[in-house]
Amino acid sequence: MIEKKKGNKSENQAVSAYEKASNEEIDPRCIPQKLDAPVPEHDKIVYPDYPKFDQETWKYLYERQMKFLHGRACNEYLDGTKQLNLSSEKIPYLKDMSQIFFKTTGWKVARVPGLIHEQNFFEMLRRKVFPSTDYIRGKDELDYTPAPDLFHDIFGHMPLLTNTNFASFYQKFGEAALNAKGKVRTMLETFHWFTVEFGLIKNPEGMRIYGAGILSSHQEVQHSLSDQVEVIPFDPEKIVTQEYDVWHLQPILFAIDSFQQLEEGFKDWTKKLGLIN
Ligand SMILES: [Fe+2]
Repeated sequence: MIEKKKGNKSENQAVSAYEKASNEEIDPRCIPQKLDAPVPEHDKIVYPDYPKFDQETWKYLYERQMKFLHGRACNEYLDGTKQLNLSSEKIPYLKDMSQIFFKTTGWKVARVPGLIHEQNFFEMLRRKVFPSTDYIRGKDELDYTPAPDLFHDIFGHMPLLTNTNFASFYQKFGEAALNAKGKVRTMLETFHWFTVEFGLIKNPEGMRIYGAGILSSHQEVQHSLSDQVEVIPFDPEKIVTQEYDVWHLQPILFAIDSFQQLEEGFKDWTKKLGLIN
């Protein structure tokens, strides 16, 4: 759910991307909203009455993207798409996703109205709740949308939530982020960017993608494994000092060896910072 944001940390290191975003002239859909009332979770989520063209958009995006994922997406992600029974035929029902997560990793899904404030976002992660939108981009934004939508949230993020190590890491991420303030919170956002959104993993067969920002992007999925990208081995200390520009294809990415390394590396690093016990 953390979406495109400007990463010029040298200008304003201690201000969160969300706070910065609200000071800039940007698409109003990219301004995070503070939730002032509970949102539907798990069994309480209702399937929207999608118009036919929304179902067509899902089918188009799903089929187009899946063609590129063979040999590019990591095994754990592809396993997750099977566990969630994702298919081009129908926009998935968030309640069904939630029930599958609950049985596999103990997570649930909440339906949120758009980009939510980081405080709400981190609190949900800490509770093992993944906030997801349930609307899909318009036909004029098939290649790129700066705003969150269900294609990014479901197709990009959800499959990995069936992976035990990733799910455990993500819950700890929420906990650590809630305890982080100022510059440290910005460091965690950078960590999120280079892992959850733009991470690569060395599978036995070769370098593969696990970041949702890549997996749900038509351009990034083709670019990220090309020789135009410098790949650096996973190291939390290095990741959090890496500059990034969200408006262009990423020239530098970080690769984990395994989701166990991501989980343990993150826990060790945040324990050292006193963010988790
Ligand atoms: Fe995301």
